[in-house]
Amino acid sequence: MCGIVGYVGHRDAVPVLLEGLHRLEYRGYDSAGVALVHRGRLKVHKAAVRVRELREQVGKAPGVVGIAHTRWATHGEVTDVNAHPHTDTSGRFAVVHNGIVENSDELRAKLQASGVTLVSETDTEALSHLIAAAAESHETLEEAVRAALRGVEGTYGLVVLDARRPTELVVARNGSPIVLGVGEGEMFIASDVAALVRHTQRVVYLEDGEIATVRAGDFQTTGREETVELADEDYQLGEFTDFMRKEMAEQPEAVRRALRGRLDSRFATAHLGGLRLDPRDLRDVRRVKFLGCGTAYYAGQIGANLVEELARIPADAEPASEFRYRNPVVDSDTLYVAISQSGETLDTLAAVQELKRKGGNVIGAVNVVGSAVARECGSGVFLHAGPEVSVASTKAFTNMTVSFAMLALLLGRVRDLSAAHGSRLVTALQALPDQIASILEADDEVAAIASKYAQAQHMFFIGRVRGWPVAREGAQKLKEISYVHAEAYQAAELKHGPLALIDAQMPSVVVVPQDELLAKNIGTIEQIKARGGPVIAVTNASLPEGLADAVIQVPRNEPELDPILLTIPLQMLAYHVAAALGRDIDKPRNLAKSVTVE
Ligand code: F6R
Repeated sequence: MCGIVGYVGHRDAVPVLLEGLHRLEYRGYDSAGVALVHRGRLKVHKAAVRVRELREQVGKAPGVVGIAHTRWATHGEVTDVNAHPHTDTSGRFAVVHNGIVENSDELRAKLQASGVTLVSETDTEALSHLIAAAAESHETLEEAVRAALRGVEGTYGLVVLDARRPTELVVARNGSPIVLGVGEGEMFIASDVAALVRHTQRVVYLEDGEIATVRAGDFQTTGREETVELADEDYQLGEFTDFMRKEMAEQPEAVRRALRGRLDSRFATAHLGGLRLDPRDLRDVRRVKFLGCGTAYYAGQIGANLVEELARIPADAEPASEFRYRNPVVDSDTLYVAISQSGETLDTLAAVQELKRKGGNVIGAVNVVGSAVARECGSGVFLHAGPEVSVASTKAFTNMTVSFAMLALLLGRVRDLSAAHGSRLVTALQALPDQIASILEADDEVAAIASKYAQAQHMFFIGRVRGWPVAREGAQKLKEISYVHAEAYQAAELKHGPLALIDAQMPSVVVVPQDELLAKNIGTIEQIKARGGPVIAVTNASLPEGLADAVIQVPRNEPELDPILLTIPLQMLAYHVAAALGRDIDKPRNLAKSVTVE
């Protein structure tokens, strides 16, 4: 989704800005632009092109202050004119903006009525004219921006450049992240730390509602300076051809990080200090509700199953996007868990805000430290998956499920989960990294299966109970990166309708855990086979010889953890189908890494 970079300092701004945009490319975008000030004049280059092409267009334009943007169209088509930065009529002010101005029609109409000619179809352009108008009656740029934003409804992360004040930038945040990178006599601005870590690890996150002036040597914000433990290498491909593959391969290490220091063998439980809940608080929890979007929601479904199984308290998962709009009943005995890799997903953030407004007890399960959801929740579990660049979430999903296994263990152990059962789970969790590594080793085998079925137009993903969220996540991964239509179904529901679709052209991926439902899952495979449907079984059981057309075997562990291991081959399958079809794996069409708009 949209990306922002800003720079004010002593070096040429262009390379810093364009390199920053390049780091944000993974978020998805359709156009790019940059604005610089040189000798008191504003120079803007923008077009519906990739950052690489923008670089050629901009060349060696001089200037030590500038702003840049990658746009993901919301208001107005993908055109050169609609790309950011946007300027006022006189060409003095330039603005880059993430988020959506909700009353932009009204603002644009008012501006037009007062004689302003708007050249683009965007909501952002209105902001540049409003700031220009406010500047006439305000001393400083910050005051002008503050005055202009008073009439603006919606979300924004904003950076403003004034050609007459080339030593400063004004930043503003409301719902869309802005982070400052503190250098030596220079300042970096971005919507995501990925664009900064090449230059500095010292960062300051702007608070919601905050507006600040940033100069090369000083800035004033309410947030404290923090050090981020991220390096530029975390955002580099290294030996890999794409980030999805790299991030899948990182899963054993990512899980080790998630578990580090959190398992207690002596008391057969987990320590999750970030929850800020003591055993008494944990005992008071009567229900757990997981909220997230897309893959995070499916991870939540696995979390809900784990909580019910291990703690025997009711739990469920709901898409945060539905929850926020349906005037939910918020109950003070429920523990709400907001799940998000990016911590920026607007629907999830809005669900958290709705919960807080109603006095709900909400914790985060977030990967990006300092992100909006993490900050809004204030307590929770960090996922420690490391930066996830590929649009398709893999290691963050796995770390979500591992974190929920620990949460369920903790909730279980303050209730009736026995020490013996807890102990088995602690050992089982510790075994996960090596088991995941062994699944990843079967890459050639999965690639061969993928190439056999890659030409299918549609695929079913079938699972029941523990296997059901796994099937949903498998279908999600396949459709998002390969564009093959995939639908997940509960095994027993097949016979109530979808079985009519089964034929030789409709492969089904069936998730078969070695649990008490094994015989039923074998029956499901037989039903599909009887109708001529090809079956790919993903299992940790020993299935009868010849039952399925292809079998992907995963190691056994404690049955409650089966969903974690059974998902890994589905990521690999989706990856190899997408690769066989020649898709742009890290940047699937129409999708963005973090969805900061409605
Ligand atoms: C799937 C995927 C999306 C995200 C969803 C939530 O691979 O990437 O479905 O999971 O947009 O994103 P976060 O976790 O950042 O809130």
